[in-house]
Amino acid sequence: MKISVIGTGYVGLVTAVGLADLGHQVVGTDKIKDKIDRISLGDVPIYEPGLDALLKKNLKKGNLTFSQNMDDTIQAAEVIFVCVGTPQKEDGSADMSQIEEVSRMIAKNLNSYKVVVEKSTVPVKTSMWIKRIISLYRKTDVDFDVASNPEFLREGSAVSDFLNPDRIIIGVESDRARDLLVEIYGSFKDRILITNIDTAELIKHASNSFLAMKISYINMISDLCEKTEADVELVAEGMGLDKRIGRQFLRAGLGYGGSCFPKDIKALARIGEELGVTMSLLKEADKINAARVETFIKKLKKCLWILKDKTIAMLGLSFKPETDDIREAPSIKIIAKLLEEGAFLRLYDPKASENMKSVFPESENRLIYVDNPYQAVGNANALLFITEWDEFKNLDWETIKKNMANPIIIDGRNIFLPEDVRKRGFEYYSIGRR
Ligand code: UGA
Repeated sequence: MKISVIGTGYVGLVTAVGLADLGHQVVGTDKIKDKIDRISLGDVPIYEPGLDALLKKNLKKGNLTFSQNMDDTIQAAEVIFVCVGTPQKEDGSADMSQIEEVSRMIAKNLNSYKVVVEKSTVPVKTSMWIKRIISLYRKTDVDFDVASNPEFLREGSAVSDFLNPDRIIIGVESDRARDLLVEIYGSFKDRILITNIDTAELIKHASNSFLAMKISYINMISDLCEKTEADVELVAEGMGLDKRIGRQFLRAGLGYGGSCFPKDIKALARIGEELGVTMSLLKEADKINAARVETFIKKLKKCLWILKDKTIAMLGLSFKPETDDIREAPSIKIIAKLLEEGAFLRLYDPKASENMKSVFPESENRLIYVDNPYQAVGNANALLFITEWDEFKNLDWETIKKNMANPIIIDGRNIFLPEDVRKRGFEYYSIGRR
């Protein structure tokens, strides 16, 4: 099957590589020439474990190519996956201008029957708009279908998520489109759920918002644990043993970040309100999330009182481990707040430092990026764990303690057992436990 994937960002690139690996003939396209040049040479512009190898493998096999010529790419395809960005606007709604632009490009190049599949996370009713724009702008009466096939990839495990999906949601309004999409995902036949298009669109937003809500729920409970003798880790374990609840996404901490949850929960709340539905549950979950950083800074102030001219080491800058992505990362708000208070910052992340430098450039006397955790803690009055990277799990505590001015640790992700750290002579504070 001839497939084109429009947009080679995070979702588009994984989709193109994944579909090629399933054996389809895939052409990826993007309007940014630099990206196409790099990817064509097998160079992945983001850090995503396993993607590099899979890209190279499929480029070599010859069933995956990349082109900047969007017209040709659209004309040659039978199925077009739209994977362009839908960034958040100031008012919380999604900016759909790239989807509209692509719809017009497809209309202009509609030379044979095609299925236009929206893969980007979009508000319910988007496909209706794609259909309308293509119908308005097409120059011939050539038939086409729209479909929704939301992606559920997680950054950091996107390749395995694509190759071992829990479910494939296919929202369609014609048998012809359904058959083509079922054929594309033939190897996952037992995991396909066919719905109408509105349902498929809503499944994506509803799933992300539910997971975000789960995180805010456990964070709320963790605040309660701190006021009692309860331990949030055990509360989560106890809750998770109930199969109806499940253990996943009950990790208390600094809250959710990334390009999806913060944006999607706001977008769904807004869509509901526009349609006259009360969405207060989602708005409250988002409010709880926004307050996480403040609560964390309070913990730090409880240890050091005044932050001005104190040296603070921060480990982990990405919004979660195994990615260099810093979008909506709690670290950004923490750095901004600590700088505002006049602290000196020493920052380390295994992959995300370069990205963070574009938000907070290095400044000799206020903020420096270092090459490892041991340099980060040099003369520090406190050490903050912000992201639970694996490499932080086996630190040499003696060296850490020796390098610090005060052996104080505040762990924003409950990486360690309190007694393990305390017996090494540190003051240790974490989330929702003593
Ligand atoms: C999320 C969803 O998990 C994917 O299914 C979805 O496809 C994707 O959004 C998307 O819409 O594109 P992702 O944003 O990559 O994936 O990351 P997650 O692993 O879901 O984590 C999101 C945030 O929640 C991170 O900041 C993480 O630290 C935080 N989190 C996660 C917690 O604070 N506690 C938890 O228990 C789990």
